[in-house]
Amino acid sequence: MATKEEEIWSRAEQYIVEHLLGRDEALDSVLAAAQAAGMPDIQVSPTHGKLLMLLAQMHGAKKILEIGTLAGYSTIWLARALPAEGKLVTLEFDPKHAAVARGNIAKAGFAERVEVRVGSALDTLPLLKAEGTGPFDFVFIDANKTGYSDYLGWALQLTQRGSVIVADNAVQAGRIADADSDDTTVQAIRSFIEKLGAEPRVSATIVQCVGSKGYDGLAIGIVTGD
Ligand SMILES: C[S@@+](CC[C@H](N)C(=O)[O-])C[C@H]1O[C@@H](n2cnc3c(N)ncnc32)[C@H](O)[C@@H]1O
Repeated sequence: MATKEEEIWSRAEQYIVEHLLGRDEALDSVLAAAQAAGMPDIQVSPTHGKLLMLLAQMHGAKKILEIGTLAGYSTIWLARALPAEGKLVTLEFDPKHAAVARGNIAKAGFAERVEVRVGSALDTLPLLKAEGTGPFDFVFIDANKTGYSDYLGWALQLTQRGSVIVADNAVQAGRIADADSDDTTVQAIRSFIEKLGAEPRVSATIVQCVGSKGYDGLAIGIVTGD
């Protein structure tokens, strides 16, 4: 049952979607396919999907890395930011999620530009490094929260000065401020934030957000050193 505040956040989001995003049949069909496949409703909100696209567009990103594909919803938003010769690699642990995502990405017209890699990201990221697939201009981290600190380390190995790193779920309804939390997700995000803060090669902040997905936030950083 939504609280009064959550209802206000959702109504405001609907209003924003209506006026700034409009109807999006391609992405509606991604959500329908995800629901039909019984996948969890944990993709980014439409407003955050568009924010990811705008950030990647503002940055002129040509090579994007995503960690955590699900049904390809955020993948498609990010792929929309790419130029024709651009490339997006997205990493997904669950083969069923990857299969649904591949179908959705192909239907959205991005099969040529997007590669879905199946496996644990901690196995795939070293392969990308070994293959010389990077450097990526833009990295979006949105997989298992316990992996975030390691993903940050890999993101730094796979980017270059000027690259952008974004990570979802960085506020956890404000619980990140609770040092004594016994929640492993909260502690994993705290470790990620503290690693980000101690990392001399990145300048970052976290934007707190409310909306249909509740109260959370996006970490946004730029790689400032090699
Ligand atoms: C929050 S969902 C991603 C949502 C997606 N970015 C979107 O907004 O449309 C997280 C995804 O990460 C995947 N995942 C979890 N652990 C992983 C791991 N170790 N390596 C790669 N993917 C993982 C899950 O299977 C799930 O599909």
